[in-house]
Order: sequence, then structure tokens, then C-alpha cells
Amino acid sequence: MMFTRDDLEPYWVADMFVKTPDFVVKTMHDRLDHSMFGYTLWKHDDFYQPIRYWFKERFNTTLFKENLLYVPTVLFAITEIVRMMSKEGDSVILHTPSYNAFLTLLKGNNRKIIESPLVLNEQGTYEFDIDVFEQRIIQNDVKVFILCNPQNPTGKAFSRETLEQLKAICHKHNVYIISDEVHMDFVRTENGHETMAKDLIHEDRIAVVTGLGKTFNLASITHGVLISKDKWLLKKLESNIHKVYGLSPANSLALSAIEAAYTKEGIEWVNALNDHLESNMKYIKQYIEDHLSHELSMEIPEATYLAWISFEKSGYNEKEVQDALQNVGRIALSPGHHYELSESVHFRLNAASPHERIEEAMTRIHKAFKYLKNKKNPS
Ligand SMILES: Cc1ncc(COP(=O)(O)O)c(C=O)c1O
Repeated sequence: MMFTRDDLEPYWVADMFVKTPDFVVKTMHDRLDHSMFGYTLWKHDDFYQPIRYWFKERFNTTLFKENLLYVPTVLFAITEIVRMMSKEGDSVILHTPSYNAFLTLLKGNNRKIIESPLVLNEQGTYEFDIDVFEQRIIQNDVKVFILCNPQNPTGKAFSRETLEQLKAICHKHNVYIISDEVHMDFVRTENGHETMAKDLIHEDRIAVVTGLGKTFNLASITHGVLISKDKWLLKKLESNIHKVYGLSPANSLALSAIEAAYTKEGIEWVNALNDHLESNMKYIKQYIEDHLSHELSMEIPEATYLAWISFEKSGYNEKEVQDALQNVGRIALSPGHHYELSESVHFRLNAASPHERIEEAMTRIHKAFKYLKNKKNPS
């Protein structure tokens, strides 16, 4: 739990303030009506086909069932692959700012974190230096790369060209790629989401991990989907889940949700949701331009429902800003240093809410910065 007090309006959590669609809930209800929740197997077409349909329809990617593995959660799979592909003290590279759970899990497993910084360019999109990425891999003898695509917290959606470059570098230096694509359905660029699962070949040391937790707001209905052509990985991971962790049975409600959600109806629902998110993002940006342009800046992210907002212009430090947000605005926003390994000039706002809740968030943020301004220049 990031915030321990209960008088703050929460905009920091990584799940949506949006209901799971009725057609998914109905299928889950029907499953509940069976009233039997014994051990559930997942190796059948009710699991494979919806996932294959979704990737084909949305990402133009053909998957085969022998490349799919049900996993307990996305983070479980990522952590276990890190543990399988490196040992304590080894280096793992990722883009920073980074989803905080990656940092926690790497520290918890005594892996060395190597940063590949993402920097905002003049066009307002996040970029990284591919040469620095390669140099750091060589210098630190990196074993694993955790790619987050689209990226939490910046909302960067990686292009096909960049993915190919990353693949080539990792292949050259024998670095295992874990591509976390759990935010894959929230890409709002012209080309849409580019997945590492496309055109995989047998030698690729790549594991894509995803799930419905974000897209359909099902994070507590735990499950994850692993996609890989690496036969050794698929076999070893499945065996570890069974023999090392005793976690083989699938979540019956998650399987029902996958069947109902990965459908034509699901696609239409997600498209409408993305329109809503885009309009919330535009509202936030406009509000900042109209009322807080001396304090804040933000670019509309290419993907995700997370707004990564900079307060660098304001000149205040992170503690001052967080204190004002919490004590004056009474709003909980994720502090940037959770993602940046150092003090930060950012906070993260979850924009997956009804429009009125976003208006409310901006009013609270505005109040906090007005307070800071008055404190600095009392009239
Ligand atoms: C990039 C990313 N990966 C993984 C997760 C968590 O996935 P799970 O709960 O299935 O482990 C999150 C949740 O915020 C996330 O943002």
C-alpha cells in the first residue's frame, strides 16, 4: 500500500475506475452458478482460441497454441524468468523511469539494475539512446532485458523498427528479452500496438507476458499469459510452476473472463474505452495549459491510461509537491521517485476514470499548487 491515510482521493492505483463490461461479468456469473470450483485445467481451446483471436484481430499476429502458457500472474512470470535466466548479482537492463514493481522485484532478487533512460524529445515523445543501451549491456555483462511495451509510466509505445533494433542488440549479446505487454490494449497511435510476439523465430530468446488484468480491470482475478517460441523456457517454467511453487491450477473465473472478453464485443468495448481515455488525456493537458502552465507540463501519452506529469517548471522539490498534494489537495498521486531510482520532478496520475473524476483531480492539483504559490509569495 503506497498511501496509509484514508482521507485522500486515490489516483495512484494502477487499475481503472471503470467497470468490467457486463458481457464479461455475465460469463463470470454463469461460471459462478456452476457452484463447483475444483482444480481447473487450461490446456484446451477455450483458453487458446480467444487469445489467438485477440492477437490476430488486434495486432495482426498469428500465435500457435504450443507457444502459449497460462501463468499465475504477469509479475510472477517475469520474476521467475529473471531468476531462470540470470543469477544473483547479475545485471538486468530496463528503461527508466520504470514500473516500480520491476525495481522492487529486481532488488528483492539481488539483481543489479542497469538503466536505459527515456528522455522526452522536442516532438513530445519519449526516446532512448540505442547506442547507450548497447554500451551498458556490454559494460555490465547484462543477462536480461525487461521491456515494458507500452511503457509504464511514460506511456511510450515502441515502434516495430525499435523493437527490431532491440532484438538485434539483445541477440548479439545473448541477452534474454522479457516483454511485458500488459498495457497492450491501450495504444492509441496510428499503427497500434507492436508486439514482440510477432514473427518470432525458434532461436529468439524472447518471452512476452501479458493478461487481461489492465484491459478489463481484472487484476484481482489473477492470471497471466506467456507467449514464447523458446521450448526450453516453456517447459522449464511450466515445470517450476508445478514442482517448485505448487501453483499449477488455473483460475476458473479468469478463464471465463478470457473467453468472454477476447471477442468482437471486447474489441468494440476497448476501442470505446480508448476514445474516452484520449479525451481525458486531452482534458488534462488543456487544463494544465489553461491554469498551471507555469508549474506543470505533460505530453499526451501514446498509450496507457497513465499521465506522467512534470512539475520541473514549478521549481518546487518532490517533498514540497507531495506534501501539498496530500495535505491541501487531498489527492494521492504516485510519486515519481518510485519509478526513477532517485528524487523526481514527476507524479503519475491514473486517468482511467469517469470524466467528472478527472475534473475533480485537476481541481485538487490546482488547489495544491495555488497553496505552494501563495506560500512562496504571500500577497
Ligand atoms: C507494466 C505492468 N506489468 C505488470 C503489472 C501487474 O500484473 P500482475 O498483477 O498480473 O502481476 C502491472 C500493474 O500495474 C503493470 O503496470
